[in-house]
Amino acid sequence: MSAVRENGVIVAIDGPSGAGKSSLTKLLARRLGYIHIDTGAMFRAVALMSKRAGIASDDDAGLAELCRGLEITFVRDGENCRVLANGEDVSREIRSEEIGLLTSAISARKPVREALLIMQRAMGAKGGVILEGRDIGTVVFPDAEVKFFLSASAEERGRRRYLELAARGDQATLEETIAKVIQRDRQDEGREHAPLKQAEDALPIDSTSLSIDQVLTVMENAVRERLVQGDKG
Ligand code: DC
Repeated sequence: MSAVRENGVIVAIDGPSGAGKSSLTKLLARRLGYIHIDTGAMFRAVALMSKRAGIASDDDAGLAELCRGLEITFVRDGENCRVLANGEDVSREIRSEEIGLLTSAISARKPVREALLIMQRAMGAKGGVILEGRDIGTVVFPDAEVKFFLSASAEERGRRRYLELAARGDQATLEETIAKVIQRDRQDEGREHAPLKQAEDALPIDSTSLSIDQVLTVMENAVRERLVQGDKG
């Protein structure tokens, strides 16, 4: 088996919304001393900027133009990571339900996927990174050394999202939130370009009845095992 890349391995974490990817990616990155890249936040930033610019979600030429002039960067802020779009901190604004649904629509468009694919590959190439998203193990880094596919039932994912929204003071009912999770899954799985699906060589983890700590331990062990193999490669 080949030795790992310059800064370590590439870890791909894919799965539907609400499966726990964000929390786990953050914790795993801290344990391994790796950089974490939230690719969903990049698609969300494109969605927000397209809304502001009045570009329709099916206007491929407009979206391509927008992406050409858009610089997305992540900056560390203590324990958190802030997302900047052309230098503006959009971390909070991209998290609304409205932007979430719009993101699901614009992330299905080819020019948007092509533009972000280039950015994501450049960000991760040296390794020592964990990328979370929908197509990391299948399209962005099919050669990632470690791949996880994290899932949970739609009800459980909706419940987690509802608690998150309530903690932020956002208005929503549990039923509505579950319905939106199901709607988003359908859009993400049914699209033509880079649909959400498990890579054949990904380790599937169903987190419905597991604690964050339990999942984290499984993931950390898998990465460390791969690092030991890489050192011998
Ligand atoms: O992970 P998230 O909820 O922030 O993602 C928002 C949307 O972006 C989601 O509907 C799917 C899309 N997405 C994608 O298509 N590919 C990725 N690598 C990450 C997110």
